[in-house]
Amino acid sequence: MKMENKEQEIKAPTIIAPPSGGRGVHVFAPATVANVVCGFDVLGFAVNEPGDEVIMRLTNKPGITISKITGDDGRLPLDPAKNTVSVSVQHYLQSVGRTDVGLDIELHKKMPIGSGLGSSSASTVAGLYAIKTLLGDDADPAKLLPFAMKGEEMACGHGHADNVAPALLGGFVLIRSYDPLDVIRLPHPAGLYCAIVFPDVDVPTREARQIIRQKINMKDAVTQWGNIAGLVSGLFMQDIDLIGRSMKDILVEPVRSMLIPDFYKMREIAMGMGAVSFGISGSGPSVFAFTKDEETAKLITQKLQQHLTSIKIGSNIYVSTINDAGPKVLG
Ligand code: HSE
Repeated sequence: MKMENKEQEIKAPTIIAPPSGGRGVHVFAPATVANVVCGFDVLGFAVNEPGDEVIMRLTNKPGITISKITGDDGRLPLDPAKNTVSVSVQHYLQSVGRTDVGLDIELHKKMPIGSGLGSSSASTVAGLYAIKTLLGDDADPAKLLPFAMKGEEMACGHGHADNVAPALLGGFVLIRSYDPLDVIRLPHPAGLYCAIVFPDVDVPTREARQIIRQKINMKDAVTQWGNIAGLVSGLFMQDIDLIGRSMKDILVEPVRSMLIPDFYKMREIAMGMGAVSFGISGSGPSVFAFTKDEETAKLITQKLQQHLTSIKIGSNIYVSTINDAGPKVLG
């Protein structure tokens, strides 16, 4: 789909919900793996778990309140002017001319913050999908993308779309261009499993972006875009081995891997156990491996967790297929 990056083009929803009456909606939005190793800021995919949940209710008083946040250890602001969910929802309400609406938001974090699994994106997308549902806005969910990117900008200083786009659209997504925004949903082979390990160390995306080299040489660029093209070809051709040998990153990984405990040891373990590929999820510290079957994915996560325990680092592990559904209304 090709989209102009202009919020004002979004039309007011056709079905207007009553401003009160306690109507509410409960939405889940998935975690995402951004970059997919070689595609910094341009590739990402959604997984089935973890993810975040938002409960949103219409109230009588115009404006947004956040009454509850759980699962964040008190780290996220209840102030609606400072929370990525309410700020992106507010941008949406302004653009559709519905600042008369009153909303109360509960955010239930079901995934670690600062994990490299698109934690802020999952919350923001759940919030935007909730307001879209409450207002009966039947526009293409992709139209919510510019608002979700505002949330990312607030969370880490840069409005990248490689977490929010797959969280919102589901599946594997390419951001071909940011200006104008041009987002393409890619196919992927059935039976591709993702093994994710989140080592419990804090790597804020804002900081992980600041340490990246700002200039690259032509030789490295050639290697990198060859790999990105190879990965995208592999996805279209359903060629898992091509996907695997293309998932190499010589630009960002050498720097960011330093923030991740035993990154190269974990790669050696995962590849030795039959992973198709291994790399950093988003800005880290989570790492992920693609595998051809669920059993291998489970064994890899268990082995990596054991390894992290042996160096006294706690971890969370997840095994998932690629989530093609995106956000889901739970009730
Ligand atoms: N593309 C972003 C980055 C993703 O690597 O900084 C952050 O999750």
